[in-house]
Formats: sequence, structure tokens, C-alpha cells
Amino acid sequence: MSGRDGASLLVDGIGELVTNSPHGDGPLGLRHDAALVIVDGRIVWVGDTRQAPAADRRLDAGGAAVLPGFVDSHAHLVFAGDRAGEFAARMAGQPYTGGGIRTTVAATRAASDDVLRAGVARLVGEALRQGTTTIEIKSGYGLTVADELRCLRIAAEFTEETTFLGAHTVPAEYASDPDGYVDLVCGQMLAQAAPYARWVDVFCERGAFDADQTRRVLLAGRAAGLGLRLHGNQLGPGPGVRLAVELGAASVDHCTHLDDADVAALAGSDTVATLLPGAEFSTRSPYPHARRLLDAGVTVALATDCNPGSSYTSSMPFCVALAVREMGMTPAEAVAAATAGGAAALRRDDLGRLAPGARADLMILDAPTHLHLAYRPGVPLVRQVLRNGVPL
Ligand code: NIG
Ligand code: FE
Repeated sequence: MSGRDGASLLVDGIGELVTNSPHGDGPLGLRHDAALVIVDGRIVWVGDTRQAPAADRRLDAGGAAVLPGFVDSHAHLVFAGDRAGEFAARMAGQPYTGGGIRTTVAATRAASDDVLRAGVARLVGEALRQGTTTIEIKSGYGLTVADELRCLRIAAEFTEETTFLGAHTVPAEYASDPDGYVDLVCGQMLAQAAPYARWVDVFCERGAFDADQTRRVLLAGRAAGLGLRLHGNQLGPGPGVRLAVELGAASVDHCTHLDDADVAALAGSDTVATLLPGAEFSTRSPYPHARRLLDAGVTVALATDCNPGSSYTSSMPFCVALAVREMGMTPAEAVAAATAGGAAALRRDDLGRLAPGARADLMILDAPTHLHLAYRPGVPLVRQVLRNGVPL
């Protein structure tokens, strides 16, 4: 149905269409009683149902809301095992420190490719059923040349948006020589990883990598042709946000502990602030101040941070609901951040909007309006997903 065969597909009867374009009302570019036409995986026409052109095939949305597919711009899906016990300990009062990353590294190294691949397939499938049509996938639980390479190869089977996160933590065998580990990341590990990665990322945090180490890895990644992203200011204040802005990173992610200078730096840049409320939920930590960032004019994205330690959810609707209830975002701001914001964080202008020229990645909700995503939390509201114009 309108895959790559030149046939046209008309989606009509759309009660509320989120376009994220100027050709509609308000910040989401809303249109009512709308229709769109898809050819070869792209949107070619958007307008009123009454004026819709004839097409080879038709899909009636039945008055429901239609949104761009979610763009989940931050996920760690290549791993083995889980850390449910760590979660239980946190809910009983233990703090989150990031120290459990090494537990997952040990399990991941011991797992076969097939086990890792099956885990990614399961999570990508879960995400897709909840409306995620693009997902970024990071390495970072291998932390040897061979294991980072195989994690990225597996990630690349599922997405174009792959990220080399060799600098996730210093592995146990380098505990007494962290700079030696940074040398490895910037040298042989990066050289092997780069052909399978679009991005390079670093966990810039006390207990992980400091500003100098982070800068070294990001500059080496840039020299290898990768775009830059950064985990920063998650567990406490730090240099991550300002470094990301200084180096022109596409996104700095977490942004939970910001001072005024961090917010001002982001506001004067085109670095996206990606907020990951699943992590604050799962670590019982204070949520980031989305309102402060939005009011300063910062571009905000929402993503899941799906990983077995700090945020084991693949659900963008859950993150939208948290952002609205806990972070001061309006439902429209949260939906924009989960779609167009994610696309901006990945520097993609073909995603996150439903307008002529954009990729036909969209979801039909079992609901009349995008408001229901936060209004009806925990309810499976995604009725149908189309990716590249193909109903899944
Ligand atoms: O984004 N902060 C660093 N990395 C992950 C957590 C990884 C883990 O705990 O396994 C995050 O939250
Ligand atoms: Fe993360």
C-alpha cells in the first residue's frame, strides 16, 4: 500500500491532524477534517477532506487524531539482562549513581549476537506499537573494541540513527587508567565504530568522563565524520551543557541540573535540550525544568532514554504524559517535543512533521485529539502506525 510502487494512498477522515507546520493552527499546526496523500513513502498533499484528490487507495481515519510518528532521539537498546533489583532498591530509598552500567556491560559482553539482536527487535517492536517510527540507538554496554563494534552493527540493522557511546563509563579493567581508556575510545574503538555510527556521544558527569576527556572524545568523533551529542547535567551541575553548545552538538541530553548560564547558552544556540523524564521517574529524582527552557526559547525534545538501568521504558506516550504532569509542559508542547523536537535533535528535516515532502511516518490514535496522550496516561491509544507510507 503506497510503499515504493508509485501508487497513491489517501488518508482521510482525520478529525485532528498535527502537522507541525505553519500551514495549520497554533504551535502544532493543527488542521481539522483533514486528509493527506502519500506517494512513494512521502507526503505529497495535505488539505481538507472535502477537497482531497482521488488516489489509488484510501484509509479512513474515522474522525480520529493523526500525528507524526514519535522521534525517539535517545535510547540504549543493545544490552543483555535487566536490573529490576536495582530499581527495587531505589524505590526502597537507594540513590542512582550510574554505577550499575558495569553490571549491564558484563551481561552484554557475555551475550551472543543473536540474544542482543532479539532484545533490540523486542524493544523496537514495543516502541513502534506505541507510535515511535524513528529511534536512535546507542552502543555503550560493550566497552571493548569488539563489543562496541558488534553493538553498533546490530543497532545499524534497526535504524540509521546509530550512536557510538564508547565513553559511557570507564570499564572495570581500566579503573586505574581512565585516560588510557579514553585513548582507546578515541583511537582504535572509534576507527572501528565510525563506519556503523552517525553520531558520537559521551556521558559527561562526575564519576564518568570530565570536561577534558569529553572534549577529546567529541573532537575525535567529529574528525572521524560523526555528529555530536552529549549526556550532560543529569546527576548534578557540570560542564556538559556549555561544552555541547561550544562544540555545536546537535543535542545535549538530560539537562536536569542547569544554572542560568546553561540556559542562556542553550537559548543562544541551535543545540537541542533533550529531556528524558523516564529517567527521573525510574530514579525517583527531580524532573528537569522544561518550562524554564521553553520560556527562554530553547528547542526542547522528549525521548525515552530506554535502558535497563535508569529508564526501562520504550513508551513515548508515557514520556509525553510525564512531561505534561511533572515538567510544566502543555500537551501541545510535549507532543511537539516528542515529534518535531526529536527530529531537530537528530538534525532531520524529513521527520516529525506532516507536510508535503516529509516522510510519511504517522500514527492514527484511538482518540479525537492529541490531548488524550496526556489526558489518558497508560492507555494504548495508538490504533495504527504507518512508516514510509506503509501501514504496519
Ligand atoms: O542515560 N546516564 C548514562 N547512561 C544511561 C544510564 C545507563 C544505565 O544506568 O545503564 C542514561 O540514563
Ligand atoms: Fe542515556
